Amino acid sequence: MHQDKKHNPVLLEEVLHYLNPKTGDRYLDLTAGYGGHAKPILEITGNNKESYLVDRDPSAIEFLKSEFKNQEVNLMNQDFYSASEELLSSGQKFDLILADLGVSSPHLNEPKRGFSIGQEGPLDMRMDQTQTLDAYEIINVYSEKKLAKIIKDYGEDPKYIKIANLIVHNRPIKNTTELAKIVSKAWPGHSKTHPATRTFQAIRIAVNDELNLISKSVPIWLDLLNPGGRIAIISFQSLEDRIIKQALADRSGNRLDATIELLSKKPVIATKDELVFNPRSRSAKLRVAAKINKQKKGEYNAYTGQK
Ligand SMILES: C[S@@+](CC[C@H](N)C(=O)[O-])C[C@H]1O[C@@H](n2cnc3c(N)ncnc32)[C@H](O)[C@@H]1O
Repeated sequence: MHQDKKHNPVLLEEVLHYLNPKTGDRYLDLTAGYGGHAKPILEITGNNKESYLVDRDPSAIEFLKSEFKNQEVNLMNQDFYSASEELLSSGQKFDLILADLGVSSPHLNEPKRGFSIGQEGPLDMRMDQTQTLDAYEIINVYSEKKLAKIIKDYGEDPKYIKIANLIVHNRPIKNTTELAKIVSKAWPGHSKTHPATRTFQAIRIAVNDELNLISKSVPIWLDLLNPGGRIAIISFQSLEDRIIKQALADRSGNRLDATIELLSKKPVIATKDELVFNPRSRSAKLRVAAKINKQKKGEYNAYTGQK
């Protein structure tokens, strides 16, 4: 694997434990990236023909094409919302579904993609480089009010008004290092994380419409599960996790219309060991659920008289 395309899958052991893949299972990977989860899962299921790997980033899809050369797995180069809608309307169902949200290591390690605070690059941040909206437009064209709202809602930075003001008064801002420097002026003094971290997160979420796509997609993912099928969703920040937690709660719990059951009440986090070799796992939270098998439940009820 080319070094800059290296991506260590997070929580791999935990994903394998909860998804518990078996021979013949149909697998849907909504954020297949560099195949870090898909490869070991497909090695177990052996059912490439009926499995789908989705990623909106054409470079990830190019990588997957060569990684799975001469294997019949289906690749979809589009955002997971449109892919999920397509799969649902064509009547597809899956036994295993995984969404490992956010950006990949190549996104962060390639300065030209513009995601990294620490390395100079263009204000890009598009996961899908064929889309027109990029970070440059948000930073240099959006109104101060709109910018402030993005930094407040998607970055939860309490200095959102000051940061938006600094950005607008320093236009044009040409690259990531300039942006990081300007935003840092709102946070004089020393801080543990880079003072522009929250603004970078906010701009990235806005460029890629991340939260909106997640909230529209999770209910469809649950509809795409076969009875007894399992879903694992990994998120990296609290805004995403809140949406996922709520979407799973909407369909589970002690109620007659529940269609899924949670496999772990609390989100699963990385072990100390993983934190050492895979620092990206530091903020990862895994939520897991299974589609209730109503038929099985019914049989069980008839036999035992219990729910
Ligand atoms: C954390 S990486 C996944 C890594 C993968 N699990 C692995 O181990 O190789 C997230 C991937 O999801 C993709 N992605 C993020 N949001 C997406 C969306 N809305 N639709 C499709 N792909 C998306 C990104 O392009 C990135 O490649």
